[in-house]
Amino acid sequence: MNILIVGSGAREHAIARSLHNSPKLKTLYCLASNNNPGLQNICFDMQVADINNNETILKYAKENNIYLAIIGPEGPLANGVTDVLAGSGIRVVGPTKELSKIESSKSFTRDLLLEYKIPASPKYSVFDSIKGAQGFLNYLGNDFVVKYDGLAGGKGVKVSGDHLHSHKEALDFCDQLIQKGGKFVIEEKLIGQEFSLMSFCDGNCLKHMPAIQDHKRALEGDLGPNTGGMGTYSDANHSLPFLTINELNEAQKINDLTAAALKNKYGYGYKGVLYGGFIATSQGVKLIEYNARFGDPEAMNVLSLLESDFVDICIGIADGKLKNIDVNFLRKASVCKYAVPQGYPDKPIKGEEIKVENIKNVDGLFYASVNIENDKIILAGSRAVAIVAVDDSISGAEAIVEKEISRVEGPLFHRKDIGKSILIQRRIDHMRTIR
Ligand code: AMP
Ligand code: GLY
Repeated sequence: MNILIVGSGAREHAIARSLHNSPKLKTLYCLASNNNPGLQNICFDMQVADINNNETILKYAKENNIYLAIIGPEGPLANGVTDVLAGSGIRVVGPTKELSKIESSKSFTRDLLLEYKIPASPKYSVFDSIKGAQGFLNYLGNDFVVKYDGLAGGKGVKVSGDHLHSHKEALDFCDQLIQKGGKFVIEEKLIGQEFSLMSFCDGNCLKHMPAIQDHKRALEGDLGPNTGGMGTYSDANHSLPFLTINELNEAQKINDLTAAALKNKYGYGYKGVLYGGFIATSQGVKLIEYNARFGDPEAMNVLSLLESDFVDICIGIADGKLKNIDVNFLRKASVCKYAVPQGYPDKPIKGEEIKVENIKNVDGLFYASVNIENDKIILAGSRAVAIVAVDDSISGAEAIVEKEISRVEGPLFHRKDIGKSILIQRRIDHMRTIR
């Protein structure tokens, strides 16, 4: 069985390792954007190519008799690589172009929830010109968010109080988005604690993964610019210390209802990972955004906890037979932290060597934006390596990660506070004050 992984970050390294760990007989292939040494070790063949070119992916898949393809990042999904591969009879974990709009269009998702009466959206309005924007901002007052209605690599969202300090600044940003030729969404700013809840989805059946909290800000104390995610944790009960069981159930239900809404609207189901970015508020759980793929770093947490056979799960998703497949996760906590280049995300150091030979547990090391060049690991400009630990408690896992990450050498930094009790207590206290 030949399996293709598209993408080459730590998420894809985690995907490849979980496939590799399955006892099923298989050969792994990868189409990559960088020469990730982790993927290179595991995969029988790996090519650096333009993963946003569907034809390149199809040609490679056909040449290598691919049985199943797993699409890591959002770009190829939004380009419709699933439609192209499935059109040639290849099984795919990842939704079609049409259903990937759940991530690639903010207005699509908000309108879907409205149409199917899924009560998880803040107040919102969609604009294709500046007309009406001032009026809607007046209606929202001081708590507003402006979002570009497309993929923007985490740079398309600006939040009042954080990035925008007046209606004028908001309208200027709206103008910029219009100039880019885009639509935009203005919505109410929600107050609460964010968490990720990902579900495996085969078009009909959903199997939920443990809830995770990501940390988007670059610096300790949730300060500094937004990033792809600096680190994540999950708890042994598969919920989070600041969430009630009802809140977790609400998030699971929203994923269930959204998958059902997509099936009803389009006549076929969503196959892949449905990733809800949620926020627990005083008014219950609301949806911040959907992603059409595994989260990064969330994938490293859940796949490190996965006890069941990941090859079976992937085939179950693609064949619509997930119902009969075991999906079990260890009842343990997990912590993942990224070591990132100094200057990340605005001006990351590139081209310098890092060293990981002092790492004790290589199973907890995932390579991301690094290249292997003449046997040296060279920074490629984004998050470099992720370190993961699984333990009985979050604080136990955090302590292991800290020890390991301090053994990575190079011009790097990471957030020491992620997973520490003091930060988690702040989340719990915050929820107590707003509930
Ligand atoms: P998104 O790309 O939609 O995930 O937005 C990026 C970040 O902006 C989220 O992780 C939130 O921190 C913040 N954000 C987006 N929408 C809202 C909202 N309606 N209320 C509060 N924060 C938001
Ligand atoms: N952890 C954020 C993302 O994967 O988009």
